[in-house]
Amino acid sequence: MSLFLRAAHGHNTPRAPIWIMRQAGRYLSEYRALKEKYTFWELCRTPELAAEITLQPVRRFGVDAAILFQDIMTPLPPMGLEIDFAPGPVFKAPVRSAEAVADLRVPEQDEIAPFVAEAIRLIRAESPVPLIGFGGAPLTLATYIVQGGGSKDYDEFRQFLRYAPGTAHALLEKLTELSIRYLKMQLGAGAQAVQVFDSWAGLHDARLYREFAKPYNTRIFEALAEFGAPRMYIAVEALHLYGEIKDLPCEVVSVDWRAPLSQVRPLLPGKTLQGNLDPAVLLAPEAVVRAEAERVLREGLGGPHIFNLGHGIMRQTDPGRVAQLISVVQAFDRTGVA
Ligand code: CP3
Repeated sequence: MSLFLRAAHGHNTPRAPIWIMRQAGRYLSEYRALKEKYTFWELCRTPELAAEITLQPVRRFGVDAAILFQDIMTPLPPMGLEIDFAPGPVFKAPVRSAEAVADLRVPEQDEIAPFVAEAIRLIRAESPVPLIGFGGAPLTLATYIVQGGGSKDYDEFRQFLRYAPGTAHALLEKLTELSIRYLKMQLGAGAQAVQVFDSWAGLHDARLYREFAKPYNTRIFEALAEFGAPRMYIAVEALHLYGEIKDLPCEVVSVDWRAPLSQVRPLLPGKTLQGNLDPAVLLAPEAVVRAEAERVLREGLGGPHIFNLGHGIMRQTDPGRVAQLISVVQAFDRTGVA
């Protein structure tokens, strides 16, 4: 079994596997070259292009896992939602009423995104490393659907959870069913692990997380258990939620950079930790990248560790720094503890 899958299944590997959140994208010239010719949705919806972009960082850097090139918004248009990218997602008609929620369809598994299944098959035929599929968590998808796009404080969505909790639950129900179907399709097509991105869960307190996130995330992970593929979860700025997150039936939790892995480890017993270099470190000189990466590696020694950034890579990152990071991580010997 590959290093990445062994670590994701809870083994203390002799070195930490590494992949990078948003490892395909605008910091790579080969991605920008394709982006000049096609829109973002065209890149996502053309299997050959999505497969090519997925493989770009694998070829360039020798990362230990590939992540499917798509967006967490990919499964939403077939529900009846119109979304543009500028560059973040913008919804033509934000959903804020019971009627609007009732109008959303939950498409069948094979209708959601056949181009994703095809891209996965193309990637599996070419990739030397395991492929991670992914989707958005219901609460994070709902954040964008209700707010209508990105926002500094997501004021509309945070109001909505208070003034229309029943409508929020109806929306989350539909998104949960959609996510189960979408992720099952990816695993069925050949994805070897899945990551659920709950990027905005950290906006809420533990009480709201217990009501609006935990039961839905639990249902998704339980529905995927039959595949035996590692299930990974990320919530950003969510240290205050780890008392809930520890109960999720998933194998891996991705940790942002705000707390050292050694401090988080006891809060998430039995989980593989993934993370957690601050993406801004990659903007610093090489000596800083080495020192900070080695600090993260040492802090990860107490149990299974997959090296990653604490959140997505920044678009102004020099790919040379990424290559350097990967060589530092791949040279770091953990066998003293393994
Ligand atoms: O990791 C990878 O290489 C796979 C690709 C990937 C994309 N989006 C491609 C993308 C992944 C895993 C995502 C997930 C995603 N998308 C999340 C969860 C992760 C997180 O960051 O918390 C979220 C919240 C989104 C929504 C989204 N899509 C945003 C906020 C943006 C703008 C990002 C920016 O850098 O400004 C997008 C667009 C997007 N998704 C781009 C890419 C490569 C940029 C599009 C472009 O080329 O202009």
